[in-house]
Amino acid sequence: MLDDLLIARALHVLAVVHWIGGVGFVTLVVLPLASSRPAVEALKLFEWVERRFAAQVRVSIPLAGAAGLWMTYRMDVWERFLDPHFWWMAAMAALWAVFMTMVFVVEPVFHRELDAFARKDPAGALRRVIRAHVVLLALAALTVLGAVAGSHGFYF
Ligand code: HEM
Repeated sequence: MLDDLLIARALHVLAVVHWIGGVGFVTLVVLPLASSRPAVEALKLFEWVERRFAAQVRVSIPLAGAAGLWMTYRMDVWERFLDPHFWWMAAMAALWAVFMTMVFVVEPVFHRELDAFARKDPAGALRRVIRAHVVLLALAALTVLGAVAGSHGFYF
């Protein structure tokens, strides 16, 4: 029978697939393709793709967080955030907070400053964009592995 916990889990995973899958696509397909062009053009292509994706993850990231918090509340497992056996719960919340800050604070608030930096040093800006995406994708992959294994009892 369908219950709210099951629906929350399904929505959580759907939102995570959309969001982290998109980060993977940008990191592993768009950025390598863009890097074969001069830095100014590469950044333009990246921004073009990222703007469209950002509009979508402004839905999927909050949805993933809301469904995750709902599950935490319904299962009453808040103490997990402090338990090392449940490191993946803290990893999920931390990763979510990083992306929420980037999408809802850093990008809209510092848009002009980021643009100015990219115009001044396009090659440096491109390098930073690539490095940030690779690091975040690696952390996200580790979190997904930890969360699926952990929520099915791997660490006990
Ligand atoms: C505020 C942020 C988040 C909260 C509160 C949260 C909470 C939860 C909870 C309570 C569960 C169920 C655990 C269990 O069944 O024992 C879960 C599962 C899961 N979460 Fe999160 N989560 C958050 C963000 C994320 C992020 C950022 C990712 C991916 C990078 C993620 C990926 C997953 C995955 C893959 C599962 C396992 C689903 C399954 O196999 O059943 N979550 N999350």
